Amino acid sequence: MAILEQPLMCARERCGLRPRCGAAGALLGVLLLFGWLPAQAEVIEPPPLSPPASAPLAARPESVGSSAAAEPVTDPAMLERSRHLADTFMGELQAALGEAVAKAGLVGAVAVCRERAPAIAERLSRASGALVSRQARRNRNPDAAPDAVTLGLLPAFEAEPLVAPGRPREQLVAYTGPTGRHLRYLRAIPTGPMCLGCHGTQIDPAVQAAIGTHYPQDRATGFAEGDLRGVFAIDWPAVAAHPEQPE
Ligand code: HEC
Repeated sequence: MAILEQPLMCARERCGLRPRCGAAGALLGVLLLFGWLPAQAEVIEPPPLSPPASAPLAARPESVGSSAAAEPVTDPAMLERSRHLADTFMGELQAALGEAVAKAGLVGAVAVCRERAPAIAERLSRASGALVSRQARRNRNPDAAPDAVTLGLLPAFEAEPLVAPGRPREQLVAYTGPTGRHLRYLRAIPTGPMCLGCHGTQIDPAVQAAIGTHYPQDRATGFAEGDLRGVFAIDWPAVAAHPEQPE
């Protein structure tokens, strides 16, 4: 891949951080890889996650109709917890991808992404009681299709993925589903330069073949830098959102 041959490896490498990059370089690479800074870099001590890791996975509110009205809400504690989950998901996935590309190139990293992304989402979901996912209108993993609540909110995210340089759009909303009131946090995932090798317009044939093998229905190519690639979606069932005051 041409981009992998560029000299500024720390900053320009698609998914990987070379061991020779120091800690500062690694951090810079992480930030540049994703093309943005965390929504709230100053989050240090997130509130403890609950319920415990043995809790069952929250069910995706699939039966929410297309008319589900989502209202913006102000809930600093839940915003903080949601941001922390999105940051963790992003950080862990980036690390896994970086390692995979360094070891096996983009072609090998496709399989790693396929295994690790859903596994990280599931673990974070079990640990938090929220349903942690990535959703995208033009999705690669069929499970990443947006539900009605996300679909209703997507246009603003698509029109303006970044609300300021390095600051992805985010929103916390409340809506009522069949099992009660939910909170949903969305955060934009913009397409960075390093994503184009697997999501762009000119994909190496070998990478394309690897994607096609695992994702025959793939719709997640043809993106340009700056496009909204998808969103982190953190869905809190009412009981998990406010465990001390269940509704
Ligand atoms: C090595 C190839 C590769 C690279 C590089 C890559 N992705 Fe992906 N991406 C994938 C694969 C494979 C999936 C499907 C994962 C799954 O099965 O859940 C995916 C899925 C996604 C999804 C979930 C929605 C969907 O379409 O299934 C988002 C969002 C996403 N990628 C964003 C990005 C961003 C942003 C970057 C750059 C920082 C990036 N990807 C870089 C391979 C890649």
